[in-house]
Amino acid sequence: HMIIKKYPKNWKVGKNTPLTDLDKKILAFQNRGHLVPKRCLIKTHEQIEGIRRSGVVNTGVLDAVAKEIHAGMSTLEIDKLVHDYTVSHGAIPAPLNYDGFPNSVCTSINEVVCHGIPSEDEILEEGDIINVDVSTILDGYYSDASRMFVIGQTTPEKQRLVDVAKECLLIGMEAAKPFGFVGDIGNAIQRHAHKNGYTVVRDLCGHGVGLKFHEEPDVEHFGRKGTGMLLVPGMVFTIEPMINMGGGEVFVDEDDGWTVVTEDELPSAQWEHTFVMTETGLEILSY
Ligand code: MF3
Ligand code: CO
Repeated sequence: HMIIKKYPKNWKVGKNTPLTDLDKKILAFQNRGHLVPKRCLIKTHEQIEGIRRSGVVNTGVLDAVAKEIHAGMSTLEIDKLVHDYTVSHGAIPAPLNYDGFPNSVCTSINEVVCHGIPSEDEILEEGDIINVDVSTILDGYYSDASRMFVIGQTTPEKQRLVDVAKECLLIGMEAAKPFGFVGDIGNAIQRHAHKNGYTVVRDLCGHGVGLKFHEEPDVEHFGRKGTGMLLVPGMVFTIEPMINMGGGEVFVDEDDGWTVVTEDELPSAQWEHTFVMTETGLEILSY
């Protein structure tokens, strides 16, 4: 028999409020059984400008890291750079004390998928690939982006993983259309990863962002077209595919409770932007 998945009726209109064209459009999707965003996920112009300003600082942090990162540097030095740049621009590093996270940035080297904790004892070596994941709060507005950095020269295999992971992000971005679906993004990413012989990490996803660090919707990096939440202009979210050279399985380090590592200890790569959905497609707010 068929299992029909019922979503909550997220789009609400006041009893005596006349329906706008947008209400009619979204209600039509909702009545056909699609998951639609709650009203609060559609950011106002003022909120989007706030998130945009946060994103400018966030991108500035990553540009500063790009200038400084080198073999012989510890990941704790990256943490200090991120912290000092952020604070000197009147902002707060979002990871610091988030759910007990001890530092200002996540630094994830080689087989570490994400959420690596900076350490004085962790020294960057020639050939390492590292994800630096930066998130910023400015005037209460959150932004989130990460990049891969290659330390000196790496192997052709690891370089290709880094490049394809970036392509996955950009292909996911292109797949996101106003009044399309979150599943369109994941489907495009999954196809590109598999075409290149890689796997997608399924245990972690992108997310709404802006008024909080993590909001609805979950943006999975796999899935089927036409499924998941409806994409409406004004929604702000990240896409942040984690692409593995080997299998897609991961585990969390039991000692620190944060570091996510590939099960087979083969390398992983991730890139992340914050986007706002517009009338024509995604606009980047932080990279
Ligand atoms: N920056 C991560 C993300 O992309 C979240 C990290 S949570 C932290 O969503 F606490 F580890 F910072
Ligand atoms: Co994120």
